[in-house]
Amino acid sequence: MKKLIAYVCMMFFVLTSAAQSQTDESKMNRFVSGLMKKMTLEEKVGQLNQYAGGFATGPNNTRVSRTEDISKGLVGSLLNVSGAANTRKYQEAAMKSRLRIPLIFGLDVIHGFRTGFPLPLAEAASFDLDAIERGSRCAAKEASAAGLHWTFAPMVDISWDARWGRVMEGAGEDPYYGSLVAKARVRGFQGDDLSKENTILSCIKHFAGYGAPAAGKDYNSVDMSMGQFANFYMPPYKAGAEAGAATFMSAFNDFNNEPATGNSFLLKELLKKQWGFKGFVVSDWGSVGEMMNHRYAKDDKEAAYKAIKAGLDMEMESGCYAKTLVSLVKEGKVPVKLVDDAVRRILELKYKLGLFDDPFRYCDEERERTVIGSKESRKEACYVAERSIVLLKNEGSVLPLSPSIKKVALVGALAKSQEDMCGTWSCAEVSKVVTLYEAMKKKGVTVDYHDGYDLKKNQIVNLEQTLAAARQSDVVVMAMGEQAWESGEMRSKGDISISSEQQRLVSELVKTGKPVVVLMMCGRPVIFNEVRRDAPAILCTWWLGSEAGNAICNVLFGDYNPSGKLPMTFPTDYFDIPSSKNFPMVGETKSGKNFDYTNYEEDIWVGYRYFNTVKQSIVYPFGYGLSYTNFSFSKPKIERKNNKWIANIEVTNTGNVSGKEVVQLYISAPETFIQKPDIELKAF
Ligand code: BGC
Repeated sequence: MKKLIAYVCMMFFVLTSAAQSQTDESKMNRFVSGLMKKMTLEEKVGQLNQYAGGFATGPNNTRVSRTEDISKGLVGSLLNVSGAANTRKYQEAAMKSRLRIPLIFGLDVIHGFRTGFPLPLAEAASFDLDAIERGSRCAAKEASAAGLHWTFAPMVDISWDARWGRVMEGAGEDPYYGSLVAKARVRGFQGDDLSKENTILSCIKHFAGYGAPAAGKDYNSVDMSMGQFANFYMPPYKAGAEAGAATFMSAFNDFNNEPATGNSFLLKELLKKQWGFKGFVVSDWGSVGEMMNHRYAKDDKEAAYKAIKAGLDMEMESGCYAKTLVSLVKEGKVPVKLVDDAVRRILELKYKLGLFDDPFRYCDEERERTVIGSKESRKEACYVAERSIVLLKNEGSVLPLSPSIKKVALVGALAKSQEDMCGTWSCAEVSKVVTLYEAMKKKGVTVDYHDGYDLKKNQIVNLEQTLAAARQSDVVVMAMGEQAWESGEMRSKGDISISSEQQRLVSELVKTGKPVVVLMMCGRPVIFNEVRRDAPAILCTWWLGSEAGNAICNVLFGDYNPSGKLPMTFPTDYFDIPSSKNFPMVGETKSGKNFDYTNYEEDIWVGYRYFNTVKQSIVYPFGYGLSYTNFSFSKPKIERKNNKWIANIEVTNTGNVSGKEVVQLYISAPETFIQKPDIELKAF
């Protein structure tokens, strides 16, 4: 009986909520239509303009007088302004405009807000969708308390090329996994209700193909077959749209010979028509104007014409819409219904955010004080950071550090660098970042710290002193790798090796006979073959945000048993790129057998290694990561139930400590009429 009641109540709830959302929808439509009737063409075009209120993230910054234009109703959104008081100031200007249409404030809230979270690539190494969603949730709570309504995240661009500096901002190389991460992050930012004041709009970027620039050079041309696009690069964008992402951002690059920002196949046909996307598309920074650099438009006017025709709704920064769209409509070159469609999409989201009810609802300084940097945020940041660390090597079980260890020689300036711990493209409060050095001192061991290496001059310093400290300690922990600024936008590198001097320092430390633990700090897969050869233990710790030091120490001292897996292949050398085998977990990875990657593919039908380079082109494949314990797997039992294939596998922890394992299911397609990779990740 109880069950029946529950069922009936549920049905009732479903029916009423569906009816409710229909009413909400028609109420919104009526409101927006009513408002649009009152708008002049100039005011409509005003809604399509987004300017930087604060700092610039790129060139072409159009220096218009923000507040004056806002009060005239000529601006729809500002980016790079945050803070409850600051955003209030601009919103007050908008409230002076004739129709009092509120602004929306956007910012690149990429990995946490004032409380910094791991880089997205690091977070993806957790293979923990709940943790990833929690990361974005926390960022949304903090960002919305600082007056923000919109983040330009998640970046869901698949990339196989670690030379491309922006891999730090994505979820790596796998289309299936990338799609799940995209959904988790959209859910995290937007929650289930945009009208709640602690949720923000998400933005799927960069549509499309930005992660596949030729030779990994940022902004380079993207030229790919439709099969390649559909199978490998498109899925995460589509997943983002399906998850209800409110906005999309067009990419800087050209896509099959046409700039993505003016590409009607991508924006109009695929996104809006085929996928039924109802939100709005914003350009990337200045990318409408950049169509002139592409020689695709001769002037502002032609750029605006091509963008609006292609389905680009809001222009970030280059001001081509602001300067020319009114005349394009008046001259009959652009039908007003195109402008109307873009305006409607923008106003609808402003409505859904609740801004027409109260334009200042996100500008609450009291909430800002209590939410930002709260204990809860710090706890979440540490939780996600621990799960992002990947154990790459642990010969002789050097890790976790034994309780008998009394003295640690901590080497490497990165161990003390608050700024680097935040990682690139960070909003975190640098002074509140817990460094490795600070965290280690709290672990009850004596810490003898030495820089060991000058990151700026790229040379070893005070070698004798550092080695003496190593000799007098029980263990050496060496923080090394890239600096945070070395990955990110415009940080493409031909050679992704860690400098030979830094690597030599590790070899010198190993020669002291003391166990050496290497912490590899990086924003992308890097190459460190000497270190791999010499150091007995290696953890990939990426850039982990405000709680980096605590999370790393928890793993070093065994309070958290590492469970992360690499979301991107680590190649043997930079010339082995791309080396992902879509995706090479073939065979037994736990048996101690060597991998055979001699026959790798970079695509599904081409690609063998170079004949004159090493045979093994991959050192750590996608999905790789060790634990302080061991797991054994039973043979999977496969059965078919309700039209689904179910694979059951028994996982046994055969070691002495508890731990967590990510069980990865790869499948091979039978013979088909389309080409398929050897194996594909389909569940984990
Ligand atoms: C980046 C975008 C970012 C925008 C605004 C551009 O340079 O490519 O991802 O959202 O700047 O800061």
